[in-house]
Amino acid sequence: MSVKGAQLHEGKSKQIFAVEGDDSHVIMHYKDDATAFNGVKKDTVVDKGEINAAINWHLMNHVSDVTGIPNHLVKALDSRNHLCHKLEIVPVEVVVRNIAAGSCCRRFGREEGEVLPFPMIEFFYKSDPLDDPPISAVHARAFGWAHDWEMAYFEFAAAKVNAAMVDFWSTLGVDLVDFKIEFGRTPEGHLLLADEISPDGCRLWEKGTKRKLDKDVFRRDLGDLSDTYRELYQRIFGHTLAEGSQA
Ligand SMILES: Nc1ncnc2c1ncn2[C@@H]1O[C@H](COP(=O)(O)OP(=O)(O)OP(=O)(O)O)[C@@H](O)[C@H]1O
Ligand SMILES: [Mg+2]
Repeated sequence: MSVKGAQLHEGKSKQIFAVEGDDSHVIMHYKDDATAFNGVKKDTVVDKGEINAAINWHLMNHVSDVTGIPNHLVKALDSRNHLCHKLEIVPVEVVVRNIAAGSCCRRFGREEGEVLPFPMIEFFYKSDPLDDPPISAVHARAFGWAHDWEMAYFEFAAAKVNAAMVDFWSTLGVDLVDFKIEFGRTPEGHLLLADEISPDGCRLWEKGTKRKLDKDVFRRDLGDLSDTYRELYQRIFGHTLAEGSQA
């Protein structure tokens, strides 16, 4: 039995708790909060925490099974709380893009929807005050954020995760536009896929129509994010999330 201890961190979409009497694990609690533009836009989205917890548990484990890239998940304690290995998070966000959107269009003046000739892997420094600036391996080395071998591993792992994710979403009638992943170090220095893989950190477009099925619905006021996430849940699990169910 893993009992929730003190809160270690309150993030924008999750809370991290210690585990009583166990210093090698944490409990990640998924909240219903949605934020965008680095926290400037905020709202509560009914059942988002439960939906993201379920999607993350399923998708991250599927990706690890298919690719052999290990992740931090240990046990789903209930519908919003996951027991995870406690990691030292590497402050580098790894982004993979298959289709140009978001900051890739803003920074390089590209049209949203441009299909990229190969999966483009980018790194960002994980820093809210600096607004997650784009970096290369040289910054990670110079500023001590990650070793060269770790950056090389992130690139390799991200490419494999992307291939598994593209296939996964494709069979559900969805194009994977881009996504963000994070990694963390175990006390022994091993790297694990960490944080979450959920529609909060992915761009997903319905095949053919290009209808947005991700957090851009919230960022751009395109509709009700709760309905969008419910639709994704239904596509993945083949049934609806019981309306209003709470953990
Ligand atoms: N296994 C883990 N061990 C320790 N910390 C983790 C682990 N997995 C993820 N984290 C960290 O826990 C936090 C999760 O909270 P949340 O995603 O809500 O944060 P956030 O507000 O998005 O802030 P951030 O920009 O740091 O992600 C993140 O900082 C994430 O890097
Ligand atoms: Mg986060």
